[in-house]
Order: sequence, then structure tokens, then C-alpha cells
Amino acid sequence: MNRPSTIAIDGPAASGKSTLAHALANKLGYLYLDTGVMYRAVTLAALRSGIDLADEPALTRLAETVEIDVVAPTVADGRDCTIYLDGEDVTLGLREAEVDAGVSIPSAYAGVRQALSQKQRRIGERRRVVMAGRDIGTVVMPDADLKIYLDASAEARARRRWLELQAGNRSDSYDDILAGVRRRDEIDSRRAVAPLRPADDAIILDTTEMDAPAVLDYVMGLVGIAGDDTEA
Ligand code: DC
Repeated sequence: MNRPSTIAIDGPAASGKSTLAHALANKLGYLYLDTGVMYRAVTLAALRSGIDLADEPALTRLAETVEIDVVAPTVADGRDCTIYLDGEDVTLGLREAEVDAGVSIPSAYAGVRQALSQKQRRIGERRRVVMAGRDIGTVVMPDADLKIYLDASAEARARRRWLELQAGNRSDSYDDILAGVRRRDEIDSRRAVAPLRPADDAIILDTTEMDAPAVLDYVMGLVGIAGDDTEA
């Protein structure tokens, strides 16, 4: 069986897409691209320059002009990759609560999506890739060789995000995180442009009762390689 060259991983907030995509890319020696960071970078750029997130034309211009680079980690602080926004390392800033709360707004704008999808495709064309997001299998790489759609209950996802934030010394309450996860699910799946949904040919995996190694093992099975037999 031929190994898939392009792998799309979609799913709602905190469904484990980035963890899976990163581990999979490491195992396979593929490029890893978490497309959510691009929407976050545009949101951060707007917040910093005082642009109202409701100003669609301004946000679209920003997405078209801003320079976003996603590279291998430059600091050993547990990050999956380093993200530069117009040359500045903004990796940590992209996870701030203000960005979390606002990012679904520009993500719903057609112009923003078009500009970022184009950047994502360009990166994906360079080599074998595992790309994670919301619309990778449906819009960005509709011809991907393997499409996975990860899901999990909102409670399980909120708990994972809560544990992650606790580990990073953030004291956000579980209830606030759960409310945020539900709000983003609602906006991401109801938007008119590229709403969150599985591609018709995606394999849907509910990870509510699975931990990260079990998800990776399952997907390595789909790729055609036993989880433990390959080099990291
Ligand atoms: O995966 P994440 O939580 O970092 O994504 C942040 C936001 O970006 C999310 O609310 C929806 C949006 N997003 C998107 O619309 N399309 C993508 N391909 C990736 C993310």
C-alpha cells in the first residue's frame, strides 16, 4: 500500500488535532502545519494595531498583507513550532485568552479565509505534509490522500484544554473554558464560508475515551505502519 503523501486532520477546538498532526508528522518525517495559528496570527495582529475585529475589509487586508512564517521550534519550551508574525516570534502570544475569544470572528470572513488558504496550499505544495485545521479536507486540500476528522465531547475537550493551561500556570476556570469551547464550536460550524464539517471521504474518529498515544496508534494503522515500528 502506498503511504499517503498529504494528510488532512480536521476537527473542533481542542479535539487533539495538533497533538496528533505533530506526532504523525514526526513519525513520518513530513512537514507539520497547524493552520489555526494563521487565523490566530491575523487576530493578534488586529488586536495589537487596534483594528476592530468586526471590520471585515480591514481584517481581509491584514490577512493579505501580513507575513506569517511557521518553522520548527526555535525555543525548547514544549512548543510544536515557532510562529513569526512580520518577523517577530509570537508563538506564546497566539494562545492568549484575548486571541482565543476573538479568533472565530475573522475566521468567518471569506477574504481572510481565501488569503490564508492560499498561503496554506503554497506551503503544502512544497513537500509531504500533515495539515491540521477545520477545512483542510473540504477546502484547502480536497485531494488529500488521507482525511481524518477528530471529534470528542465538549466536556472532554474543555478538560484537555484546562489541563494544558494548568500545566502552563494559567488559572482559567474549567467552566469558562467549556463555555469558550462551545461558543467557538457554534461559530465555526455555523459560519457560511468553509464551516467546520467532515469531508465526505473523511474517517471520523471520536476520541472522547482515547488518549493521545491511542489516537496516534490508530491513525498510524490507517497510514499503513504499526505505531511502534517507525523512527520518531
Ligand atoms: O485550532 P485552533 O483552536 O488553533 O483554531 C483557532 C481558530 O481558527 C478556530 O476558532 C477556527 C479557526 N480555524 C479555521 O477557521 N480554519 C482552519 N483551517 C483553522 C482554524
